[in-house]
Amino acid sequence: MIIRPERADDADAITAVHRAAFPGPGEAALVLALRAAGRLVDSFVAVEEGVVVGHVGSSPVTGEGLVAAFGVAPLAVLEAWRGQGVGAALMRRSVESARERGAAALVLLGDRRYYARFGFVPASRFGLHDEYGGGDAFQALPLRPGGLDGARGVVRYAPEFLALGDTP
Ligand SMILES: CC(C)(COP(=O)(O)OP(=O)(O)OC[C@H]1O[C@@H](n2cnc3c(N)ncnc32)[C@H](O)[C@@H]1OP(=O)(O)O)[C@@H](O)C(=O)NCCC(=O)NCCS
Repeated sequence: MIIRPERADDADAITAVHRAAFPGPGEAALVLALRAAGRLVDSFVAVEEGVVVGHVGSSPVTGEGLVAAFGVAPLAVLEAWRGQGVGAALMRRSVESARERGAAALVLLGDRRYYARFGFVPASRFGLHDEYGGGDAFQALPLRPGGLDGARGVVRYAPEFLALGDTP
């Protein structure tokens, strides 16, 4: 398996992955909107046998006292390729890339049991909440000591998420 940054000619394959992995078209449309807005700061694909089988994106989030933080979303792997570490490889690459770019922290909305393995903890431990009432599903990972010091309150995703109509 190869994990690499998206290329211009991956766009349709990325759309296809999200359309297949999520119940609605929102996540696929979100990636297109973020890319068009120049807010898809990281976008990695997993390639197996020359085919894009997974994708993860991230985009800037804002909040009081929050500096250089990014939200990881969406993450998806084609069903036939799940349970083989593709999602984990995409997540690890995203975390590594954010750290290399000097990001202070990552946040995401997702299952605790899945994301704990990458070091994410409930963002409420840092006094942070999401806009969607996600509770403990809203998780954060500081990327350097004190990365979330001084941050508090509501963390807002990029405006393109508003069109998602549901939690990311
Ligand atoms: C979530 C997803 C990306 C994981 O991809 P993957 O390549 O199967 O992930 P990995 O192989 O790295 O990890 C698989 C493990 O995660 C677990 N897992 C997957 N989704 C999970 C979830 N929603 N909650 C808890 N555990 C989950 C699997 O049971 C498996 O457990 P194991 O390691 O004990 O065997 C994939 O299931 C997917 O595309 N789901 C649909 C889209 C989605 O829900 N995206 C996440 C939105 S937050």
